[in-house]
Amino acid sequence: MARQRWASRRVFLLAAVGSAVGLGNVWRFPYLVGKYGGGAFLVPYLLGLILIGVPLLMLEFALGQKMQRGVVATFGQIQPRLAGFGVFALSSAFLIVSYYAVVMAWSLVYLFNAPWLPWRDDPETYFVQDVLQRSDAIANVGWPNGILLAALIAIWILIYLCVWRGTTSVGNIVSWTVPLPLLLLGILFVRAITLPGFLTGWQLYLTPQWEILFQPEVWSAAFSQVFFTLSVGFGIMIAYGSYQEPDSDIAKNAWLTALINSGISLFSGFVVFGILGYMAENQNQPIAELAKAAGPGLAFVVFPEALSLLPGASILSALFFIMLLTLGIDSAFSLVEAINAGFSDHRPGWPIEKISLGVCCAGAIAGIIYTTRSGIYFLDIMDHFVTNYSLMLAGLVQVLLVGWLAGAETMRRFINQVSDWRVGGWWILSIKYFVPIVLLSLLLVQLRSDLSSQYGDYPIWSLRIGWLAVSSSLIWGLGYAIFFPAWRKKRGSSK
Ligand code: TRP
Repeated sequence: MARQRWASRRVFLLAAVGSAVGLGNVWRFPYLVGKYGGGAFLVPYLLGLILIGVPLLMLEFALGQKMQRGVVATFGQIQPRLAGFGVFALSSAFLIVSYYAVVMAWSLVYLFNAPWLPWRDDPETYFVQDVLQRSDAIANVGWPNGILLAALIAIWILIYLCVWRGTTSVGNIVSWTVPLPLLLLGILFVRAITLPGFLTGWQLYLTPQWEILFQPEVWSAAFSQVFFTLSVGFGIMIAYGSYQEPDSDIAKNAWLTALINSGISLFSGFVVFGILGYMAENQNQPIAELAKAAGPGLAFVVFPEALSLLPGASILSALFFIMLLTLGIDSAFSLVEAINAGFSDHRPGWPIEKISLGVCCAGAIAGIIYTTRSGIYFLDIMDHFVTNYSLMLAGLVQVLLVGWLAGAETMRRFINQVSDWRVGGWWILSIKYFVPIVLLSLLLVQLRSDLSSQYGDYPIWSLRIGWLAVSSSLIWGLGYAIFFPAWRKKRGSSK
């Protein structure tokens, strides 16, 4: 069967940018900047982007284009048992999308309520008590919340409608869902710079605190943000690359995707901090505190509050949540696409509609836990463990396999054959030495901090769920590596 293809280079770029640009750009990035010393954070972030992000993105595009397979079969072509690492990557991707969709479900609930602005008086209480109905301790799980569950199902139906026909349906969708949120962000930007106090916000955003660069934690945060924001590590970009013709450009596409993505992050920082500056002035609160209270709260507490203070509040709020939804959806379905590619490489005869349906149903079911009263606690734990361990580990494995087994030089030659822009020897050094050393150090720094203190002061049993999630993905991968080659041989010989 012929492999699916993107309709054009433009569609491919839109899909890759759509996957990269997501919730990570609008609240995660600005919040990290605020938390870790304003402008100084940009130094490790940009270094990480150029030294790790771009080389890895090129690597994933190149692997996909060369092998014409998703992540599992790609690793399997290097060595059959290595396919297990692909299974590890995809099951981690599944864990991410199962909670990512829940954050989108919150946005949907807000969108429906925008005409009434029920959060106007007390956004924090609204978020915690009305939307989440959060319990006071993680142990009081309770039942799923009906409204959130309905919103979650709606989100999964939307995701399904995007991916059900593979590159064809994705190609149609991204022409809308990638430019639209940028337009909305532009509108919010204009709103921000017409507010009193926006410059105070920009000052916090841009003033560097150089001392903070001596903390390893800052570097770790900056580099994992690079991974998260470029969607590299879990084989998403491998799957997207595999729907390209093998001789399509790689280097320029990777640079373009990375630069557009990070440009949007920087730009949304101006919007976020501009509005924060206005809020600080309006409520006479120190802006640094508002910025610190960020995290998941930034999008769902600080923003709704800020927007509800403005003229045209309902419309601006609706625009904001439409922006979050359209930003999130192409990142969410890119994760689903990567999983779909894994299944359809495994069983080329299975119709893509059925595979998509199965993955989407499984994702919706896995998300139910996050709609319970303890949902946000579980979401926080899962996010912490999966991004800090699984993502870093998956990236580490990828560079080691390519750098030391598949041959970094072969890969560089392949990239240079097809690309307009040449890739120098620096790429090899980065893939073979620099990236593995940095990732390994980050993993160790994180491990030390998690072993010496309890993340978020959650009880031990709940943190074990996080460890369990990471190790269960590893076990899936290991099982696949052990049993699959034998099973395939048996099947092959009985034919
Ligand atoms: N890049 C997306 C964002 O910034 C999220 C995302 C999509 C992602 N695919 C991923 C994160 C794969 C990690 C791994 O919101």
